[in-house]
Amino acid sequence: MKIIVIGATGTIGSAVSKELGERHEIVKVGSTRGDVQVDMTSLDSIRQMYQKIGKIDAMVSTAGNAHFGPLDQLTQKEFEVGLGSKFLGQVNLVLLGQDFMNDGGSFTLTSGILSQDPIPGGTAVTPINAAVEGFVLGASIEMPRGIRINAVSPGVLEESMEQIGAFFQGHVPVPGWKVAKAYSKSVEGRLNGQVFRVW
Ligand SMILES: NC(=O)c1ccc[n+]([C@@H]2O[C@H](COP(=O)([O-])OP(=O)(O)OC[C@H]3O[C@@H](n4cnc5c(N)ncnc54)[C@H](OP(=O)(O)O)[C@@H]3O)[C@@H](O)[C@H]2O)c1
Repeated sequence: MKIIVIGATGTIGSAVSKELGERHEIVKVGSTRGDVQVDMTSLDSIRQMYQKIGKIDAMVSTAGNAHFGPLDQLTQKEFEVGLGSKFLGQVNLVLLGQDFMNDGGSFTLTSGILSQDPIPGGTAVTPINAAVEGFVLGASIEMPRGIRINAVSPGVLEESMEQIGAFFQGHVPVPGWKVAKAYSKSVEGRLNGQVFRVW
């Protein structure tokens, strides 16, 4: 299969690219690095990326930012970070990617454990992850031509503990290779409309 991994240069994306790259052709996409660059917050940039890469058999997104910070310091602006990037960015990767997806292909998006298991400082992230999962559920019953869509909801990764572990006190970190297996199940399996939780 020809698979685009958006966020391939990141922590999760590099584990996913390694896992799927053992069996498939991977186009590694980042914002500044990778084979191709895209800004997922820009419709024009997403269009140009798909036009450059052409027809695909799967799109995996392991990209998207959201704001971490205490509730009493949140304003609409902080919610808009996640809305524009992690939510609408991934939604637009699907909406604009449909024309480039071969029959029987798949989209796999990334949500995260905070949709179910909140942490202090995660109030602007929890609803974004839940919205990603809601989009996947809604879109899954209308996907044409045998195309499937799923989300992977990772717990905090072992590889990310140094950077963000302080936010996740009490959480048991999961190894990147295990998270990558859920993306493999989404792309190489047959399930549709699922959230694969790796906690
Ligand atoms: N890491 C965890 O423990 C964890 C747990 C649960 C959920 N998640 C979620 O998983 C996703 C990825 O996390 P990560 O830790 O792997 O992130 P990361 O290591 O920071 O990597 C981010 C990736 O996204 C790309 N990127 C950044 N801005 C972009 C943009 N505007 N358009 C397109 N691509 C962009 C980066 O490209 P460049 O390298 O070129 O900048 C990089 O490939 C996030 O949504 C995060 O919330 C992560």
